[in-house]
Amino acid sequence: MEKVKISFNLNYEDVTVEIDPNKRLIDMLREDFKLTSVKEGCSEGECGACTVIVDSKAVTSCIMLAPQVQGSSVITLEGLSKNGELDKLQRAFIDAGAVQCGFCTPGMILSAKALFMKNPNPAREEIKKAMSGNICRCTGYKKIIDAVEIARDK
Ligand code: FES
Ligand code: FES
Repeated sequence: MEKVKISFNLNYEDVTVEIDPNKRLIDMLREDFKLTSVKEGCSEGECGACTVIVDSKAVTSCIMLAPQVQGSSVITLEGLSKNGELDKLQRAFIDAGAVQCGFCTPGMILSAKALFMKNPNPAREEIKKAMSGNICRCTGYKKIIDAVEIARDK
């Protein structure tokens, strides 16, 4: 299959890559850019494990084709820490004990980050709604919502 060239901004840097036109966004991020924080759970857009931020919105990268990000900005968990310093959401997840199974954490943090981009001061109910696409099958959601509130109040 003929490859397509796409250019976009990835974790605050301009990048260009040649890929198969039917490659999924999750596969491009993990395989071509080695961004392995992006996790694959259900592969059907239901669990939120593969969430990344595209143009300030949380999207599930398992059901998006890579060429769709042409000209866009894409943020993965790797883009959140700066100069070795964790983002306040990452710090709050650690402090609140919200890193549970760990597999779901990148997607959860990115859903919260996208919420903060839209509204830096969300109420608990808005946080719950924004995180509703991120499924947890282990300990539950309380510590996760608490962590987002801690980050909001910092
Ligand atoms: S792996 Fe993409 S939503 Fe579950
Ligand atoms: S945080 Fe991954 S299943 Fe609960």
